[in-house]
Amino acid sequence: MAPPRPSDPVEHAAIEHGLAILRSGGLVAIPTETVYGLAADASNEQAVRRIFAVKGRPVDHPLIVHIADAASMTEWSHDLPASAALLAEACWPGPLTVLVPKAAHVLDVVTGGRTSVGLRVPAHRITGELLRRFGGGLAAPSANRFGKVSPTTAQHVHNDLGDDVDLVLDGGPCPVGVESTIVDCTVDPPQVLRPGGIPTEHISALLDGRLTHASGPNRAPGMLASHYAPHCRVLLAGDGDEMDDLAAATPGSITMGLDVDLADYAQNLYQWLRDADIGGRSAVVALLPPARGLGHAIRDRLIKAAAHRAD
Ligand code: TXA
Ligand code: MG
Repeated sequence: MAPPRPSDPVEHAAIEHGLAILRSGGLVAIPTETVYGLAADASNEQAVRRIFAVKGRPVDHPLIVHIADAASMTEWSHDLPASAALLAEACWPGPLTVLVPKAAHVLDVVTGGRTSVGLRVPAHRITGELLRRFGGGLAAPSANRFGKVSPTTAQHVHNDLGDDVDLVLDGGPCPVGVESTIVDCTVDPPQVLRPGGIPTEHISALLDGRLTHASGPNRAPGMLASHYAPHCRVLLAGDGDEMDDLAAATPGSITMGLDVDLADYAQNLYQWLRDADIGGRSAVVALLPPARGLGHAIRDRLIKAAAHRAD
């Protein structure tokens, strides 16, 4: 990871502006390496409530608290599991969220009343500086309306949220493109609740194989069957032939995922889903990548985007 560079004057002024808004209880969209987040001061109940209102998100879906560094974890959890400390040390800053037992001061509105809190140190120069200067934690879900496609550029946030967000800090396109991997470290062995930007194989290797997958219903609220959905239909293809057949049978559709490597697929996934809507496509026919590395996260998002929805 490149060392942080000193920010230029324009960037510095934008960060100052963001800090002032956050300190007065406003909402700031922040760039991260995964997707843009909709951030509020995690210790300000009113500000956090506004995140739910703007997103249209059920209040029992907890928010990840973004922090400046691994050393700050102990401010949010007084009973830090060894697995969480180990993973944080190895993966942060980076696309990993760990669930740990929450400290008493962590607001119920942030955790959805749960006894755990999700923590993450994002790898983005602007947001890193914002967090270091803010000092506290920033509660931030992805900066999209509930159930819709996550934003990977500042323009996506403007398009989706308009004036409902007080400031969008433009940090360019998100390089990873899919959300963080969520690992529940409150259980032993730890469980992957959401595949994401750090491949599950990597997490498993760091834990010497002591890792399982989420079991039981509702392990993480927000892991709904239908999610990350564009307006048009999403059809899944297991291979190139099936993709051709589905595309031929679906007038107005567009295909996605052939001849791209996994990193490019992840980085562009949400942009391509948005492009299909902008282009008025009837459907996206998406190739399911192999279940390895970033392929786990891409498959998860595609399957949710393709799930039956009420609307
Ligand atoms: O990459 C990411 O993780 C992005 C960027 C902005 O950091 N954030 C993100 O947040 O994807 P969100 O809110 O869209 O998804 C977080 C998921 C939700 O499904 C939520 O229910 C789950 O994490 N979650 C957060 N804290 C939790 C907790 N204490 N227990 C169970 N699930 C939790
Ligand atoms: Mg989200």
